[in-house]
Amino acid sequence: MTEAILLVGGKGTRLRPLTVHTPKPMVPAAGVPFLTHQLARARAAGVEHIVLATSYLAEVFEPCFGDGSALGLHLEYVTEEEPLGTGGALRNVASRLHSGPDDPVLVFNGDILTGLDIRALIGTHESTGADVSLHLTKVPDPRAYGLVPTDATGRVQAFLEKPQTAEEIVTDQINAGAYVFRRSVIDAIPAGRPVSVERETFPGLLAAGAHLQGMVDSTYWLDLGTPAAFVRGSADLVLGRAPSPAVPGRRGDRLVLPTATVAPDAKLTGGTVVGEGAYVAPGARVSGSAILPGAVIEPDAVITDSLVGTRARVGERSVLTGTVVGDGAIVGADNELREGARVWCDAHIPPAALRFSSDQ
Ligand code: GTP
Repeated sequence: MTEAILLVGGKGTRLRPLTVHTPKPMVPAAGVPFLTHQLARARAAGVEHIVLATSYLAEVFEPCFGDGSALGLHLEYVTEEEPLGTGGALRNVASRLHSGPDDPVLVFNGDILTGLDIRALIGTHESTGADVSLHLTKVPDPRAYGLVPTDATGRVQAFLEKPQTAEEIVTDQINAGAYVFRRSVIDAIPAGRPVSVERETFPGLLAAGAHLQGMVDSTYWLDLGTPAAFVRGSADLVLGRAPSPAVPGRRGDRLVLPTATVAPDAKLTGGTVVGEGAYVAPGARVSGSAILPGAVIEPDAVITDSLVGTRARVGERSVLTGTVVGDGAIVGADNELREGARVWCDAHIPPAALRFSSDQ
């Protein structure tokens, strides 16, 4: 039975203010902490033992998932005193693995939403006899990612971090954040200091002649590292475009958790989720958005492609597009917030304080 390590210790700086009180993998997506979807997908692929490598806000994971038995899993938690980076985190949990030296160990970044065929990645790893196998995905603009060119057999030729010039963009294949490691490769990562798998371990292995295998899988894939991507991912889960056995309800245009209240003439579309205890008032229109637990959307507010944090409030007639409202923040009535706005946790925006148009 293959076991897995989930990397969930990053600070999630690009996702602030959502990650001020909550580590990125615990921010709710489609009504449950994002990590629930990953755990459920791993379980569905036959994984039973998962070690969570935690660091930033480490204390919130175990109270939520416990020993994992509710998900049919055996979960363990290992916390780094100082963040050890993606590679250091793997080495730091190695003593918890049950696998033999040549057995495959799955590794997942804790912020990727994907329909990856996990069994196929393990199958590729075993049939090619690789030291590490990587899920690769193709993206139209690879500049923000690590490029991974491969030869005709899928063997990795190079790791090119965040290319900028046209000459550097030699492929559209990127590291998709899911790997299978030969167990002994994890044991060989240096202990007790920060190590990045992307920048140090993988290039080092390649230079030493190790066999790194890429598997291109062009299924659904989204890196939830930014607010816009996170909101998109949550909506895609609700709509059923992104696969997960853990969405708490039927797939469709909207998902309203049982303890939420939505006025009969409020309009929810585009994969909107309304979390536990949240309230959407009459006349409000919410599209493609995530309303987190306890948040309040006042009458006639119009919210599109946005996230409203836990116990935050959006005032009457306010119009939010591509906006993140941090936990506990209050956006007063008649404001207009646009793409990229991040209202910090507990901030108060007075009524009619911010507009992009000259109307009243
Ligand atoms: P940004 O700060 O916005 O770049 O996000 P991040 O901190 O999550 O970094 P990144 O997206 O590069 O991390 C990829 C994955 O590795 C995420 O699932 C992180 O939680 C995880 N990760 C990153 N650094 C560490 C670390 O030092 N320790 C552990 N245990 N996990 C880490």
